[in-house]
Amino acid sequence: MIEFAGVTFAYPSPGGDVVALRSVSLSVAPGESVAVLGANGSGKSTLALLANGLRLPREGSVLVDGMDTSDGAHVWDVRIRVGLVLQNPDNQIVATTVEEDVAFGPENLGVEPELIRERVARALETVGLGGLEGREPHHLSGGQRQRLAIAGALALEPAYLVLDEPTAMLDLQGRADVLGVLDTLRERGTGILHITHHLADAARADRVVVLDRGEVALSGTPVEVFAEESLSSLGLAAPPIGELADALRAAGVPVPAAAYTAESVVEAL
Ligand SMILES: Nc1ncnc2c1ncn2[C@@H]1O[C@H](COP(=O)(O)OP(=O)(O)OP(=O)(O)O)[C@@H](O)[C@H]1O
Ligand SMILES: [Mg+2]
Repeated sequence: MIEFAGVTFAYPSPGGDVVALRSVSLSVAPGESVAVLGANGSGKSTLALLANGLRLPREGSVLVDGMDTSDGAHVWDVRIRVGLVLQNPDNQIVATTVEEDVAFGPENLGVEPELIRERVARALETVGLGGLEGREPHHLSGGQRQRLAIAGALALEPAYLVLDEPTAMLDLQGRADVLGVLDTLRERGTGILHITHHLADAARADRVVVLDRGEVALSGTPVEVFAEESLSSLGLAAPPIGELADALRAAGVPVPAAAYTAESVVEAL
């Protein structure tokens, strides 16, 4: 479990501290997918950095399977347990071939070469890039590069994956491919914290948390959160109804094909 308990965080700045998170409590269990929504500057990326100990809370605590991220003794355990994938895959690509790129993390941890080969093959298979081992990363499509970044995180065999707007730079196909990978990982028991500004992507999660100026404004199942009237005042518009219906169907909710108004979707629920 990743557990944020009353977490406050501020960035020091010459003009006074910028408080990015205020008394935030939330959790992600193994096999659970939690989506985080919020307007620009609401603290989403800061939350991601705190989840794997790259930043430490000023108040409150972040526990990863019981380990306090502020406890120096657990720094590496926490980073291995919580994989982090950023918005721009190009910032995470470090090698000149797909295979070397995915191997980079486990190599740095001193994993046995034999095991590295197995892990790289498994990670590439999971993200659907098996067969492209020898390719140069910059020759891949945007969606493939983002899946490569996810494979790099998976090669460390994390229990949890935190993704900061992983589909923001992708076209529809690239986005669908990345969301498909997240579904697979969730089924395998990985806990997922998915930061996104696509409400339709959030609709596929088990739970949705909405941040507003660093505080948790809403939290619940997608259906509960999307029904909140305050959604639009938090800088979020409910997704176009067709997109929402598709996302609910993908999540296993039996929404009939004829449901193309908000009322008919609500009725189906
Ligand atoms: N390195 C930094 N130094 C100072 N202030 C920062 C820094 N990074 C973020 N902030 C501030 O902290 C607050 C939260 O930023 P954060 O990047 O976490 O928000 P966000 O929800 O990810 O935004 P976006 O949707 O634009 O990605 C904002 O007010 C931002 O200006
Ligand atoms: Mg951000």
